Order: sequence, then structure tokens, then C-alpha cells
Amino acid sequence: MYRTHNCNSLRKTDIGKDATLAGWVHVSRDHGGVIFIDLRDREGITQVVFRPEENAQLAKEAHGLRSEDVIQVSGKVAARVPGTENSKLATGEIELIPSQLRILNRAADLPFPIDAEIHNEDLRLTYRYYDLRRPELSRNLRLRHRAAKATRDYLDSQGYIEIETPILSKSTPEGARDFLVPSRLMPGKFYALPQAPQQYKQLLQVAGVEKYFQIAKCFRDEDLRADRQPEFTQIDIEASFVTPDDIFALTEGMLGAIFKVARNIDIKTPFDRLTYREAVGRFGSDKPDRRFGVELVDVSDDFRASGFKVFRGALDAGGVVKAINSKGFAGITTGQIEELTETAKVFGAKGLAFIKVENGEWKSPIVKFFNDAEKAALKSKLKIEEGDLILFGADKWEIACEVLGRIRLRVAEIQDLLGTSVKGSSGSDIWDFLWVTDFPLLQWSAEENKWNAVHHPFTRPKSEDVSLLDDGNKFSEIRAEAYDVVLDGVEIGGGSMRIHEPQLQEKMFEALGISAQDRQSMFGHLLRALRLGAPPHGGIALGLDRLVMLLCGAESIRDVMAFPKNNRGMDLMTQSPADVDPRQLRDLAIKLAGDARGQSGKESPPKK
Ligand code: AMO
Ligand code: AMP
Repeated sequence: MYRTHNCNSLRKTDIGKDATLAGWVHVSRDHGGVIFIDLRDREGITQVVFRPEENAQLAKEAHGLRSEDVIQVSGKVAARVPGTENSKLATGEIELIPSQLRILNRAADLPFPIDAEIHNEDLRLTYRYYDLRRPELSRNLRLRHRAAKATRDYLDSQGYIEIETPILSKSTPEGARDFLVPSRLMPGKFYALPQAPQQYKQLLQVAGVEKYFQIAKCFRDEDLRADRQPEFTQIDIEASFVTPDDIFALTEGMLGAIFKVARNIDIKTPFDRLTYREAVGRFGSDKPDRRFGVELVDVSDDFRASGFKVFRGALDAGGVVKAINSKGFAGITTGQIEELTETAKVFGAKGLAFIKVENGEWKSPIVKFFNDAEKAALKSKLKIEEGDLILFGADKWEIACEVLGRIRLRVAEIQDLLGTSVKGSSGSDIWDFLWVTDFPLLQWSAEENKWNAVHHPFTRPKSEDVSLLDDGNKFSEIRAEAYDVVLDGVEIGGGSMRIHEPQLQEKMFEALGISAQDRQSMFGHLLRALRLGAPPHGGIALGLDRLVMLLCGAESIRDVMAFPKNNRGMDLMTQSPADVDPRQLRDLAIKLAGDARGQSGKESPPKK
């Protein structure tokens, strides 16, 4: 037997008992020949004390122990010397006085100290198996396990069954680039890794499964960010004979169970609902962060006849004038204003007009253009007071909203309004969940010169708007029966009711400019399935990684994945992607283009 207890289990009541522990040497200290070892396993830490006067030979052996050596110790549980108890440790009142020490394995030079804060993430990812020993990451992995288990238990209790769908599949149009896998048996043909199991889960509804779920791996070849990885995990759900309200209630119940089981937090349900127009109009985002106020205020009506040509011009062109009041931020520096203006321009603004209210005065290059009525309107609508900073966006509705939405977040960040990222489990913490509904169905892509599906091509239009699909001029007005669930400004999930009628699906493909021939080659299976008595159905998928990131208070989804890729999509630990044997390529009938030969996989592991 390797151990009788784990390193977090011995207490005062165990004093005098024999115990055997096994784990890693977390820290070892030599106090005048007495060796103190903090022995660590995944549960915690227990102090082990080797005193030369008790066992000289053992103390000598212990003297040679180094951090991360793997040992087993047996001995007696003793009370710590009064005054040396450690109230921060659950085992802080006791220590183990060993009579036996077995060195199970030695650790070589360590790439970095395990209890230090390491900012070089590439180094951490290269030695991920070691990095994961850090208590915080070990806690995250276990929290993720509990979240996944709560998900399975809850969905099982609601009659949902978990079904695996293929990884070697066919391209699904979720909007990102596919990862392709060449076929050896059919040279020149490719599988695609699923961006989501979207079509399979719909086909399972045609199959009469009625209630499906899967904790599913998804693959998307897109640019990476803190909340995006090329492979990630969805809690994927689909059901037949349901309405959006059914999916909302199921999702709220499931999130309630996850928060309760994983962190003993009671979340407030039902969640608020905002339409897409409201969310974007009030917060400048379809994933609004409502943990702080600062809403966008529409002042268009007050400037229709304005002498300020920037506002007047935007309104005459059919746009809007919107503003936000950043309370108490009149002290903003010129440098900060410039930074915000640059940000605004990145998102399409032509400028970022502002007013600072200092010493009773409106300081701004533009107030001289405002008449008294305009000033009075601003004052009352934006509740302007001493110390405020007002920022304006005058543009098309979409641009003005998005720009002020981004500025609103950046200002909150500068003013530190977002609070601490790690929340306790006390009821006073806000977990701001909400539904955003009524997304547009289609979006015009100027780049591709065509309409694209906002969610995906299988999402149904709201029944009131179906007829607009017959009029190409009305496409932008069609609302989808689609919804996202948002937590603290992060989109944690999205879904929709699907098209189950083959004719409507054909019409949707047509609106997307997919030729009749492509419809058959890309989606023939789906269209045939819809003709065989497909039930009305719909569903949702939640990003498990993002959800667990928020549950853990982590800053990046990489902190809640065992083996994530870095921001260039590399697995630094295994050095993948990598070159392959030319024979493998020959088998697949693949020839690398000149410029791809020999330049891949040349990233060496980071220096310590
Ligand atoms: P969608 O594309 O909105 O919907 O994805 C659902 C959720 O998955 C998470 N997510 C990601 N997480 C980490 N890294 C990524 N690269 C990444 N991309 C998406 C997000 C997102 O809300 N088939 C549809 C769902 C449906 O209609 O039922 C779909 O995949 O949290
Ligand atoms: P201009 O008349 O172009 O010098 O702009 C006067 C002020 O209005 C400057 O502070 C600009 O940053 C700002 N501004 C210009 N265009 C816009 C716009 N479309 N929306 C908001 N502010 C703008």
C-alpha cells in the first residue's frame, strides 16, 4: 500500500496514529539539521519533520531531498510545537514524524519553481505536465470535471441521451475555416473535422432521438484569443417538439446545476432577456457586460437641425448620434483620449467627440457648435454632472453602437469597474446571465458581395418574417429564431430553432447564394432527411471551456484545458504541428508547394 491518508486528511484528532503518505516534496527546509518537508499531493500539504535526535540516519537521507522528488513516508502523527501551528493549512496543527522514508523517484533540475508566478506562458506550456501540478491548475481541472459531471447528470435527469458523432466528418458551415484530413483510401478527397456537430444533431432528430446531448470536441481554424482555441469543447444539445422557451428553461436549469455542484453557488433564474436590437442599442454589443452601468443614450432627435456638421451629417445620411457618460472620468488625460480615439477608428468611427465637465465648465472642442436647447437636452438625457466625461458616436446605427460599446468596455477597464475577476461563492456576487434573442438572420458581406447566415444556414427565420425571404431588399430586416446566452459579457452559448421544412431550407440556401448543384453536393443528405418527416426541432451549444473559465475566475480558457495550444496554434509540449515522413505524404498523394517545404515545425522549445 502506498498510503493510508492523503496529504490533506490528517487532523488534531489523528495525533498518536500511524500514517503513511506519498507525494511530491513541495518545499524542504533545513533548520539547523532538522529537515522540514512540505509533502504535497493533489489534495493538499502535510508537514513532515525529520529530527536528527529522533532518527539520525533518516534525517541524513531527508537532507538530500530536493523539490519535486517523489517520496513515501511512514510514521506517527504528532502535534506541532505550540506556536508553530499554521492556520492557513488544513493540516496546520499536526506534523508527521517519520520512521521510514522511501524515495520513489528523483526530480531533475526544474524548468521553473512550482509556487512562483510564471509569466512566460510558452515555457509553462512546454512543460505542461509539470505546470499542471500547480494547485491552481489542478483545482481548475477538477472543477471542470465537476461541471461536466453536473451537466451529464442534469441532462440525463431530463431524459437527454449522450450520443457521439463522427470526428472525421464533412465540412459544416459554422463560419470558421475547417481543419482538413486527407483520405488515403480515396486520394485527393478530404474529411473535415467538425466545427460543431450541427448537422449530425439535426439528423438525430430526424432519427427520432428527440432529446440529444453531447460533450463534444469542436475544431475551428481561426485566429486565437484568450477565449478561443482551435479545438474546444461544447455542451451540445438538440431536441424535437420544443420552443425557445423550452431551451431557455433547460439551459437555465443546467447552468443552475453546474454552478451548484461545481461551486455551491445559487444562480438567479430565469435570466433577463434582451433582443439583439436592445442589447446593441443600449450596450453597443450583442454580448453586453452589464456589471457596470454606462448605457448608450440616443440623442439623435436633439441634433437633427444642429449647427455641428459632424452630427448633422451623420443624421442626414440616415445615421444616429449616440453618447455615453463616463461618470467621474473628466480627469482623462490627452494620451488616453488619443488612445480611445484610435480604438474608435479601428471599429470604423471617423472620430470620437467628447466633453469633459470640469470646474462647472464643459471643456470640448465641439461645444461651441451647440445651442442652448442642445446643451439642455444633453444635460438632462445624460444626467451630466461635475466630473463627467461624455463621449459621442455619430454614424450608421451599427457603427455608432459598436464603437461606443467598445469604448464603454475600455473605459470600464481603465476605471477598474469590472471588479475582481475571481469571485467568491457568497450570494452578494453578481453573476450576470442574460439571453440575447431575435438576432438578424442574414448579414451582408461587402467583401464577398453576398449574404451570409449570422448563426448558420439551418437557423429558422421568425415566423412573422418568413415572407421577407421572398424580397431581396428586405433581407437585413429578417429576424432569426436564434439566441445567445451571455455571462458577464462573454458569449457562453448560442443556438436556434431550425428549419425542418425542405422547401424553406432550399429557400434559405438560395438566399445565401448557394447554387442548386452545390446544395445537392454539400447538403443533399440534409435535404433528403428533411423530406422524410423531420420533426420541428432546435437546440443550443455552450462553450464548456468558456463557462469553466468564468466559474474558475481564470483569465484564459487555456487555464482550464489540460493541453491547450499557444496563440500560434502550436502544442509546444509535443512540438505539433510538425513535419511528417515524406512516405506518409506519398501515401496520401500530397505534394507540398515549394514555399511550405522545410519551413514548418521549426519552433524550438523556449529557453528556461
Ligand atoms: P456557436 O458557433 O455559437 O454555435 O458556438 C457555441 C459556443 O461555443 C463556444 N465557442 C468557442 N469556445 C472556444 N474556442 C472557440 N474557438 C469557440 N468557438 C465557439 C462559444 C459559443 O457560444 N452549432 C451551433 C450551436 C447551435 O446552433 O446549437 C454552434 O456551434 O461559447
Ligand atoms: P472634426 O470636425 O472632424 O475636426 O471633428 C470634431 C470632433 O468630432 C473631433 O473631436 C472628432 O474626433 C469628432 N468626430 C468626428 N467625426 C465623428 C463621428 N462620426 N462621431 C463622433 N465624433 C466624431
